[in-house]
Amino acid sequence: MKAVYFLILQAGLSWAGLRFGCSSVSIQRLDPVVEPGQIPSAHVHQIVGGNAFNATMQGDIGEKGTCTTCAYTEDFSNYWTAVMYFRHENGSYKRVPQYPNAQLGYEGQDAPDIKGGMTIYYTQKDFTGNGEQHITAFKPGFRMTVGSPTTTSIANSSVHPGLRYTCLETILTRGYETPDFPNRPCPAGIMAIHHFPACWDGVNLDSPDHQSHMYSTTRGAFQEAGPCPASHPVRVPQLAYETMWNTTAFKDMWPKDGSQPFVWSFMDGKGYGTHADYMFGWQGDSLQRAMDSECMFHMCGSPGMQGILKTQTVADMNKCAVKSTVIEDTDGWLSELPGQTMPM
Ligand SMILES: *[C@@H]1O[C@H](CO)[C@@H](O)[C@H](O)[C@H]1NC(C)=O
Ligand SMILES: *[C@@H]1O[C@H](CO)[C@@H](O)[C@H](O)[C@H]1NC(C)=O
Ligand SMILES: *[C@@H]1O[C@H](CO)[C@@H](O)[C@H](O)[C@H]1NC(C)=O
Ligand SMILES: *[C@@H]1O[C@H](CO)[C@@H](O)[C@H](O)[C@H]1NC(C)=O
Repeated sequence: MKAVYFLILQAGLSWAGLRFGCSSVSIQRLDPVVEPGQIPSAHVHQIVGGNAFNATMQGDIGEKGTCTTCAYTEDFSNYWTAVMYFRHENGSYKRVPQYPNAQLGYEGQDAPDIKGGMTIYYTQKDFTGNGEQHITAFKPGFRMTVGSPTTTSIANSSVHPGLRYTCLETILTRGYETPDFPNRPCPAGIMAIHHFPACWDGVNLDSPDHQSHMYSTTRGAFQEAGPCPASHPVRVPQLAYETMWNTTAFKDMWPKDGSQPFVWSFMDGKGYGTHADYMFGWQGDSLQRAMDSECMFHMCGSPGMQGILKTQTVADMNKCAVKSTVIEDTDGWLSELPGQTMPM
């Protein structure tokens, strides 16, 4: 009886959602999930989170870092995606800079000062409810990916309603999502959106393809998710990334033939191959505590009633960095993308 009571209590009470900024911790060709130990990895990534990030990292990374670029200081997880480049008509490439989400500004955390990076979400079944399901935090050593650089058709990308782009009319445009790169200049840049699967098999911290231990019921755009299947019965937090790519420096260089000039660092000019990686690294029970609470977004770090997570200033977020092990230019005007030799 005691166990049943415990489950009901857990299910009924929690509806927290986390949203926080993480500045850039590294931009380089490393991928400890898909290509562990390979230096350099196939394509350039932009990474945020803890400074334990390296090519061979594994195990409980929450215990290994000394700083994190995320607003919540118990979060030493690493989060990464490919990098967006602008392809000039003359054949040269230039990395597109990132800017912080304007929705992140609040007292003590001035959004415009955050150095690049991403916005990270851990929500429940949707923004406001857990669907009467207990949300189980990820375990130390957990990792997963979503999407694949080998996806090259709209048919294949359509199985991922959580992988999308928004053409930003202003820095606060939300809701207009496409499965491919916007085909026209976007005044305030392009937001890349990655929603991960949130149903876990309850056993494996990883799988050979880094995906089959998970099952996605996301409908995208933070809508209420469908139920988890029997094969993957454990509902974990709904993880999502938003990356704001500032394309304004290229607005006067749009190709004369009208073609869309942005490409991912793995040479994808359509955008169907968009993908993201995650390595869990929250210390102790901090993520579970947050998920079991009733705090929303940055309030989970506010002193007082809801403040159950520790926070740091933007200056301290920006100070944390990982020294590059791969020394190459990823930011100048480049004749080819790092690692992507042009086919003859
Ligand atoms: C990565 O970090 C771990 C400690 O977390 C260390 O043991 C290992 O040597 C590092 N590997 C590389 C390639 O730097
Ligand atoms: C292409 O144009 C950019 C921007 O003007 C310039 O910096 C770059 O050097 C050019 N590349 C070539 C190969 O001319
Ligand atoms: C793309 O979709 C086709 C048809 O559904 C499927 O056979 C193929 O395995 C998919 N490819 C990838 C890379 O997901
Ligand atoms: C985007 O970049 C331009 C320079 O190209 C800069 O003036 C502008 O402030 C940036 N936008 C944001 C929102 O950071």
